[in-house]
Amino acid sequence: MRNPSSVHRAVYKQHNLFGLNKPSRKKLFTQKHRRPNSIAVVGGALGDEGKGRLTDELTAQFLKTHKQVVHYRDNGGSNAGHTVAVGTTKIALHQLGSGILQPGCLVILGKEMVLHPADLVAEISAVKAVSPKKNLPATLHIDEQAFLCLDVHRAFEQVLKQHSTGSSGATGRGIAPAYADVIYRHPLRVRDLFAANWETLVRTHYELYERLVQGFGQNLAGILVPQFVGDPIVVGTPEVYLRRLKQAKSVLKPYVHDVRTTLTQLWSSDTPFVFEKAQALGLDKRWGVYPDVTASNCGFDGIFSSTEGVVDHQQIAVRAAAIKATYTSSVGSRKLPTHMDESLAHRIREDANEYGATTKRPRDIVHIDIPMLSYLLSTGRVEYLLLTHLDIAYPEVPIRVCTQYTIGKQIVPYRPDQAYLNQVSPVYVELPSWDGAALHEVTSPAQLPLAAQQYVAFLTQCLGIPALWATTGPKRHQTVRWF
Ligand code: IMP
Repeated sequence: MRNPSSVHRAVYKQHNLFGLNKPSRKKLFTQKHRRPNSIAVVGGALGDEGKGRLTDELTAQFLKTHKQVVHYRDNGGSNAGHTVAVGTTKIALHQLGSGILQPGCLVILGKEMVLHPADLVAEISAVKAVSPKKNLPATLHIDEQAFLCLDVHRAFEQVLKQHSTGSSGATGRGIAPAYADVIYRHPLRVRDLFAANWETLVRTHYELYERLVQGFGQNLAGILVPQFVGDPIVVGTPEVYLRRLKQAKSVLKPYVHDVRTTLTQLWSSDTPFVFEKAQALGLDKRWGVYPDVTASNCGFDGIFSSTEGVVDHQQIAVRAAAIKATYTSSVGSRKLPTHMDESLAHRIREDANEYGATTKRPRDIVHIDIPMLSYLLSTGRVEYLLLTHLDIAYPEVPIRVCTQYTIGKQIVPYRPDQAYLNQVSPVYVELPSWDGAALHEVTSPAQLPLAAQQYVAFLTQCLGIPALWATTGPKRHQTVRWF
């Protein structure tokens, strides 16, 4: 992180900044000791930064020059969510990577995801329904080693929510209990669904959760759990539960593979790779605002472990983080010190549709927070930024950016801990804004209004990380590129 005051003095004196941070595309993707044509996009803040839209666009770009592109997801499950527009129809994807709509793309759901079979079947049907040939436009491979996230996990998470504040912000999709299974060494994996004794395996797992839930005085079979489509359903008796899983596994069977062999072969070929991380560095179990964190590994290093070392994340040519350019959104129970006046937050929430794609919860809208972002981007070893929502700006409302934290008279660092963050006071700088709506047709940095150029220069220089793209609207062409 550079000193914001000196960056401010330097940037706001300049009147032509569009040439800043201009690496060439060819150079970017062919750096020494890096695997050419590979890019990973991580969430740089607290989720919902628009990674799905960016990876969709990156995949489409690679498909212009290559017959096949691999789109790999390694973490999370149906807690993630992004809406993809197909013509005039919109569908919400949760577990499938956004490349699923593009012919030529191989979408891989990796080993360290936690997959909910019935939700995945529903998602596959939703994609088929909107595709012109009523099939999956892309090829789908599900790693047979991926973990299962089941209705028993969703039920147990609800029980936990009644007894622990730590899980009060969770999406209710059973993510933490599913990952906890791995640590406790009793997870079910996708491959278990296809074992000869699969019914016994599932029954034994069900019984374990039945006892856990009973310990809290509740009845597992009767607990209502959310589903991808429609109203919540009860977990049901073991027989009902098994019947539902049997239906799902018959649909999923053709997509289940030994992914490592395919990955090894493709990573050593010249096929482009787009890695779409789920959630965000600020939600990572190690670096998020404790205790409201997710259970997966949200950093680039998760790619290494999910691919079983086939992909060394340090060799990926471009390791970029998506962040919202002018504000940050957060959904959960965490309370950030940089909260915004509610009338401006409301305006942004409506203009940028800041409602959870998974839970429909209204997202908290907070000011850009340089201490928090610097911490997350440096911990996550981010090399480039992809800025989204540059069009969410109002000419009459200066953009407030938090440049440091204080406790009393003391300047203090960012620490990822709720009890600590409750004590800090943010120090802000106010920067000139621009007419965001006028940016919708802007596609080159030179066309950006001076205030937007200066703002991008200020932000990227404070963070010490160059921006590759900025999005100026939700459609693919609404992107300003610095490369
Ligand atoms: P879990 O992942 O459902 O366990 O939720 C843990 C925390 O991460 C909660 O605060 C969730 O709101 C948050 N979270 C999980 N997934 C996402 C996401 O895709 N976007 C934003 N927040 C998320």
